[in-house]
Amino acid sequence: MSRQLLVTSALPYANGPIHLGHLIEYIQTDIFVRFQRLRGNRCVYVCADDTHGTAIMIRAQQEGRTPEQVIHDMSLSHQRDFDAFSVSFDHYGSTNSKANYEVCCSIWAALRAAEMIETREVARLFDPKLQTFLADRFVKGDCPRCGAKDQYGDNCEACGSTYPATELNNPRSVYSGATPELKPSQQLFVKLTPLQQFLTDWTQKSGALQSEVANYLAGHFLDKPLQDWDVSRPNPYFGFQIPDAKGQYWYVWFDAPVGYIAATAEWCQQHGESLDNWWRNPACEIVHFLGKDITYFHTLFWPAMLHIGGFQLPRRVQIHGFLRVGGEKMSKSRGTFVTAAAYAKHLPPEFLRYYYASKLSPKIDDLDLIADEFIGKVNSDLVGRVVNLASRAARFVEQTGLSATYPDDGGLFARAATAGTTIAEAYEACDFREATRICMTLADAANEYVEQRAPWTIKKDPARARELQDVCTVVLNLFRQLAVYLAPVLPDLAHKAGVLLHAPIHHFDAAQAPITGTKVAPFTHMMNRIEPKQVEAMFADAAKEAAAAKVAMPSAGPEPAAAIGGTGSVEPLAKEPLAGEITIDDFQKIDLRIALVVAAEEVPEAKKLLRLTLSLGAGTTRNVFAGIKGAYDPKLLVGRLVVMVANLAPRKMKFGMSEGMVIAAGTDGEVYLLSPDSGAKPGQRLH
Ligand code: 2FM
Ligand code: ZN
Repeated sequence: MSRQLLVTSALPYANGPIHLGHLIEYIQTDIFVRFQRLRGNRCVYVCADDTHGTAIMIRAQQEGRTPEQVIHDMSLSHQRDFDAFSVSFDHYGSTNSKANYEVCCSIWAALRAAEMIETREVARLFDPKLQTFLADRFVKGDCPRCGAKDQYGDNCEACGSTYPATELNNPRSVYSGATPELKPSQQLFVKLTPLQQFLTDWTQKSGALQSEVANYLAGHFLDKPLQDWDVSRPNPYFGFQIPDAKGQYWYVWFDAPVGYIAATAEWCQQHGESLDNWWRNPACEIVHFLGKDITYFHTLFWPAMLHIGGFQLPRRVQIHGFLRVGGEKMSKSRGTFVTAAAYAKHLPPEFLRYYYASKLSPKIDDLDLIADEFIGKVNSDLVGRVVNLASRAARFVEQTGLSATYPDDGGLFARAATAGTTIAEAYEACDFREATRICMTLADAANEYVEQRAPWTIKKDPARARELQDVCTVVLNLFRQLAVYLAPVLPDLAHKAGVLLHAPIHHFDAAQAPITGTKVAPFTHMMNRIEPKQVEAMFADAAKEAAAAKVAMPSAGPEPAAAIGGTGSVEPLAKEPLAGEITIDDFQKIDLRIALVVAAEEVPEAKKLLRLTLSLGAGTTRNVFAGIKGAYDPKLLVGRLVVMVANLAPRKMKFGMSEGMVIAAGTDGEVYLLSPDSGAKPGQRLH
């Protein structure tokens, strides 16, 4: 029986472009959605831009535009990027819509009727220069727990503590640099304790959550009374005014998830469907995909809102980890913050879809983008193992088409058809790594067959024309089978396979029976190998884009304050003027070498130091203390190349001898290690 599914991805903020970190989620969701559709299930995929909040309001002020203009342009840019990556939404809306306001009002009325709203006066931080209240993440200062400088208003990246922004020492607004003032404000709270039992049951027993998520909620939130949720923000704020609370707006996180329902409502209206059939129908499976950072919004607040509003709760919440690049957090300053547009300018989007798929499991582990691995996987798996099958067989049967009956292939097709069940289970479980792994083992078997039967040799003997047609019929069917199995990941390749063999791929079951007797279209190139220089050019563009954005505009999500320039108001050159001239001989006295970090650990007694063991190759290692503790996680440094001063006289420190120095840019609180381009070897000298 076919299933009915409503699938969502988290709504991207309208204050920044889509980047490779976002794309993990949209690609993951889209693969799941395309798989469901290929299975014959009714699957509607909706999303929208998340448009409200202080960030958009201030960005608009800074750019001399209205927030509506900002979100309009951003929505177009987001949709362009999603299209480029073949993300197949049925509807893409906006949280700043009439439909969204109406659903927010209905949920709000239900919360009021359930007596779950309470008004209280609280002190909030206010930017006196900009005359606006500041969200926590737009205040920076010194961590109240460990003293680390330049920390966000809600958590410290150095020691991991969370705290209210009002507790930061030396706070300042990231927008204006002004010292925030405390101002009283009437706030509206949603009480969650009446739903404590309900939420405990749903998170722990419904099976909607991954077990690690359920355990995390049980151990961090549900083990004590749930805190009331502050859902209002005072004027000025870009958002919806709360109908029964003058001068108050719903906090962006109140109306953002409601956007899932509103986008469905708009889709329903365009397609003559009833919203209740999707959000109030127990037979409809609602599936949310999202990142681990927004877990509690979607697993505590949102279910509470749905429950009180009389909507179905999600059947499944599929949470994924973050993107890392080369083992580190994506970073604008390191040039690893790659936008979707920068990627698509240099590389085919399907390659990223495949690479992500090959690494995505149902777990919430982070996914590491490693340039060499990316190039290797695409070139060897897609070009070398899959497309190669078509390119080695199609030309030989352009004239004849496929054989009229399927020849004996020693059971290859039948075995791969049987694997369809396991592949489908893997897709259903969001274990795309496993699905693609099985596909590659099938591809290996098919390639072995090609090698053994060598159609290019058979071709030389006109008397073996029939055999040639049979061999190619087998190879092209094995190729097509893979194109079907990989269709959720590689829709474009599946389309090309359909055109090549005059047999469009519409169903996952198309892999169960071979096709025979069809014409074969003239073979056109399906995929090119990646050249490392394409990847290098992409990262170079990303670095340029990030530098330009840093000057021009506030950013989205992961690094909000860093890009706004709150701390960067003094140009580095002005802060630290150029040193006096030296001769080349002076410079050559400094022996700078590439070194490999083979071990790294914190020095517990020192606030800023990490102890690094650096290898210069040929068995030569150096022990170096580097003042980078706040900026780098030692675990992530191991295996990375750095630049060191190798001939600095050893220095005796309290913790041991330091036998050199690691080169880094920046000063306290903002430190950037230097890395060579790929290919450099430990021990090489810098000239
Ligand atoms: O974290 C984010 O990027 C949010 N814009 C996600 C919102 S998802 C949903 F709740 F709308
Ligand atoms: Zn701290």
